[in-house]
Amino acid sequence: MEQWIDTAFASAARKFASGAKQAAAQGIIPYKSEGRRYAPSPFDGNSWWTGGFWPGLMWQLYHATGEAVYRDEALRTEELLTRELRAFDLLNHDVGFMYLLSTGAHYRLLGGRQALSDTLHAATLLAGRFNPAGFIRAWPGKDRAGYAIIDCMMNLSLLYWASEQTGDPRFSAIAKIHADTTLREFLRDDGSNCHIVVFDPSTGKVLDRPMGQGYAPGSSWSRGQAWALYGFTLSYINTGEERYLDAALRSARYFISHIREDGLTDSDFCQPKDEERIDNIAGAVAACGLLELSALAPAEESKTFRAAALRLLKAEYDLCADWTDASGGILQKCTASYHDDGAGRHVNILYGDYFFVEALCKLRGTDARLWMARA
Ligand code: GLY
Repeated sequence: MEQWIDTAFASAARKFASGAKQAAAQGIIPYKSEGRRYAPSPFDGNSWWTGGFWPGLMWQLYHATGEAVYRDEALRTEELLTRELRAFDLLNHDVGFMYLLSTGAHYRLLGGRQALSDTLHAATLLAGRFNPAGFIRAWPGKDRAGYAIIDCMMNLSLLYWASEQTGDPRFSAIAKIHADTTLREFLRDDGSNCHIVVFDPSTGKVLDRPMGQGYAPGSSWSRGQAWALYGFTLSYINTGEERYLDAALRSARYFISHIREDGLTDSDFCQPKDEERIDNIAGAVAACGLLELSALAPAEESKTFRAAALRLLKAEYDLCADWTDASGGILQKCTASYHDDGAGRHVNILYGDYFFVEALCKLRGTDARLWMARA
């Protein structure tokens, strides 16, 4: 293994050991760093979709090191997140991101009746978003009953996990119907994916494919492409269905062919080339997917995928990581949406750090495998 991987992991562990104390002192679930301090989610308090990444980061570090500081911080923020289950109408399909990495990780690593119950509660809410017309509804709001988005491919892991835990096939059946719809309606012939599809909520007919967080309708938002790459890979791992592996391979080839020359990732692969707008979260998510895929792909592509993952991570390490105490986070130049939506542009956003650390853990053989239905 290359030396920089161990150096990066040790530096991340050091940074977030003090970060855990800082966040606890502030009493928040960190969303991004602002200097040494953290800022909470920009919208919707602790029901905002990103709340699971901080405890997920803590659980990954706890799993890799056994240090109590990470476990205690994960448990502190879990307490804040589980309160949101009561006001469930503010939650959306991202309960997969939120609870698989918090209560789900807790249950996987330590066991515990309440953690199991809270994670199954979240899975039941996600299953309740299923529209029999063939998709999982993304967001609340009367005018958005037909919206589904590519990001949901990552949330499906919660459903596969719930079927494994309970022996009830309905969770997994819903996940597969949604994955099949995504394969059919989001994945384009060239391997790129659109972000949003609007269905008629009564018939399932496609009404529109509007612009989401990317550059324009019909463009290719890089983080959405990373969600597809990793999400289809996880659906294959969790079901063994070959069509998901095929979709993951196609999404991966498209992503790899659009990595910038310096190894970083544009916010949208179709954005104007005279403007620098980078999203290091997309690169870190894609690296996680590519590392998993390299173990599943045909031999001739396996090395390509691993090499691409290392190229993405090394570029982030060399060009965009802040290891000093001046920043509470690692990856700089993270971009929430191509068109600034107030959630951050070219700043540190901590779910990028979650995936960067998850990728380092995969390379070091300590990944807690939080997205897998079976440990
Ligand atoms: N909507 C989830 C994301 O920003 O990736």
